[in-house]
Amino acid sequence: MIGVFDSGFGGLTILRELKKALPQYDFAYLGDNARAPYGTRSFETIYAYTRQAVDSLFSLGCPLVILACNTASAKALRSIQQNDLPSLVPENRVLGIVRPTAECIGQFSKTGHVGILATPGTVSSESYLMEISHFSPDLVVSQHSCPLWVPLVENGELESAGTEYFVKRDIETLFRKDPLIDTVLLACTHYPLLTPIIQKFLPKGVRLVSQGEIVAKRTLDYLNRHPEIEIRLKKTGKTEFWTTDTVDFFEKGAFLFGERNISAKKLTFSY
Ligand code: DGL
Repeated sequence: MIGVFDSGFGGLTILRELKKALPQYDFAYLGDNARAPYGTRSFETIYAYTRQAVDSLFSLGCPLVILACNTASAKALRSIQQNDLPSLVPENRVLGIVRPTAECIGQFSKTGHVGILATPGTVSSESYLMEISHFSPDLVVSQHSCPLWVPLVENGELESAGTEYFVKRDIETLFRKDPLIDTVLLACTHYPLLTPIIQKFLPKGVRLVSQGEIVAKRTLDYLNRHPEIEIRLKKTGKTEFWTTDTVDFFEKGAFLFGERNISAKKLTFSY
């Protein structure tokens, strides 16, 4: 299976596009709902949690794991790829979602000014600033962290007045940093769920970019270039859902993300 990991429900916005682009493949989705959100946690904690999740997905039979979480990609991917994989399971692969997004975000902007909304962990890692500077050195990038958006989404507060208040406040703060922004990247996989409210407060003509399609396209491309991984993937079009919280909590939350009639399973970490 292709493993898809997120701190909670956000990675489902990536999984949906992966399943559209790669319908023949089997997926195992893991949400660490019991410990979400990750975005306000330390580097050490995010790394330890992500490493456990990757180990579990390997054990479930995933030779390829996608960290469908910007916070985990920004804080843990490099250590896992460089330090853990070579000694652990050198033939397996772990991919993140920061680099593929950074590679193409410049193409969306006409003014050359881009805004990034993300968790505090992703913003403070400066991963997007570093990666974008490689691919689009002239792009002017402003970041703003929205620590309350993930808890609001995890709790199903997708339309409330409270959510509107925080979304409006954070968007206004981003545009005060740079009024020339014409493209806003939702660099947290939870945020697409708030798209209707975000659109309401975005200045006219500003383009909103989510990562689902970008990651799906890049995964397809990766599998074409890596037949040694592709050949190890099961192709019956099935998806398993795993959560570290209760199955009931996951199934109800996943419903809001468009995953209807699923049977989730509970995962307990072995260490
Ligand atoms: N979906 C995660 C991301 O893309 C949210 C992280 C969190 O749990 O705070 O960053």
